[in-house]
Amino acid sequence: MQRTIRRPAALRGELAVPADKSLSHRAAILNAIARGSARVDNFLPGADCLSTLACLRALGVDVEIIGDRGARGLSLAVSGRERLAEPASVLDAGNSGTTTRLLTGLIAGQAIFAVLTGDDSLRTRPMARVAQPLRLMGARIWGRAGGTLAPLAIQGGGLHGIAYDLPVASAQVKSALLLAGVQAEGETRLTEPARSRDHTERLLAAMGVPLTREGTTVRVTGPARLEARDVVVPGDISSAAFWLVAAAVHPRAEVTLRGVGCNPTRAGVVEALRAMGADVVLEKERDEAGEPVADITARSSSLHGVELGGDLIPRLIDEVPVLAVAAAFATGRTVVRDAAELRVKESDRIASLAAELRRFGVAIEERPDGFVVEGGRSPRGAACHSHGDHRLAMALAIAGALADGETLVEGAEAVGVSYPGFWEDLKRLGRG
Ligand code: S3P
Repeated sequence: MQRTIRRPAALRGELAVPADKSLSHRAAILNAIARGSARVDNFLPGADCLSTLACLRALGVDVEIIGDRGARGLSLAVSGRERLAEPASVLDAGNSGTTTRLLTGLIAGQAIFAVLTGDDSLRTRPMARVAQPLRLMGARIWGRAGGTLAPLAIQGGGLHGIAYDLPVASAQVKSALLLAGVQAEGETRLTEPARSRDHTERLLAAMGVPLTREGTTVRVTGPARLEARDVVVPGDISSAAFWLVAAAVHPRAEVTLRGVGCNPTRAGVVEALRAMGADVVLEKERDEAGEPVADITARSSSLHGVELGGDLIPRLIDEVPVLAVAAAFATGRTVVRDAAELRVKESDRIASLAAELRRFGVAIEERPDGFVVEGGRSPRGAACHSHGDHRLAMALAIAGALADGETLVEGAEAVGVSYPGFWEDLKRLGRG
């Protein structure tokens, strides 16, 4: 599918961005093994989260859709079960790394056999990072390429806790090991090189699991009982990021995003944009289901280049594609470093971003762990491709909505992975 984009005269209005993808997965997965039933409201109906629901059902979990507000979210009733059923067929995680890695940890804790696979992109993504520590806990896991790529075959059960230093800051790996840890005998101690998103820790604590956190170390002792917990999923700051950048760059813009999750382990994009000179304001800061939430307003600003690296990177890793677009419209040089993880996302986001932004006339140089953008060269509209990557599709659409001339995004359907109503929201703000 193709989409044509031109710069609107102004970008104005208010939006409730779609539900947080990370939290939607976790609300369903953790409740699936909890005692009792829970209601999950504002569950993201994006393709990734629907893959999680399909897999949970194949594992015998009773997940009922009890409300449907279209692109704006589902209401679910999830009945937890202590023992999952052995799935009769292969589990399909689609494009979703979160589904694959979290469910690998979940299944490892159960005395069942299951096979997990996904689409062409997913089957190239590194799985040793989760398979290897789960093997140390006692799970048996096989896969292609010496057990490192999906399809993964998992024989779970009989786990014991481990002390493990994660080689990369990855919330998916940490969450998989916590899911295994709550089902294992004894203590699991996990230490990350930098703090990644902590939604799993927060939700486990809210479900009554006594876990302790100190710096970048988390400890949990199993077997632990999870009590079912209702969750209202807040808006996704990763989806909000597209409008924050669009509003900050567009000369006639003011956009307010209501009810956005602003967990400090996720909100690095706000810090980065402010460091670039963006007018971004948080209002009505509140707490919902153990997660900080706020309304965010961004207005037309003059952006300048910035250096992004170190511990900030895991807190804005999914927003780097759209921050690269901001950098292209900023004055001066932007450097992104310590972000080699971008190479193993839904696409190699360093290579795909560089290739596609060059079509707009952007001066971008690839580095092994990031890139350098020389801003201020008036990007012009271009024919470009999403590489089947939802965040790239949306970042390119924002580049198109800010550049001179017309932009054509091929592979535009990829947005459905995390933001099914993206094209409608772009039109709405452009009309606003
Ligand atoms: C996610 C963690 C991050 C992120 C992904 C979602 C999660 O991946 O990029 O989009 O929900 O845990 P890594 O764990 O691979 O860093």
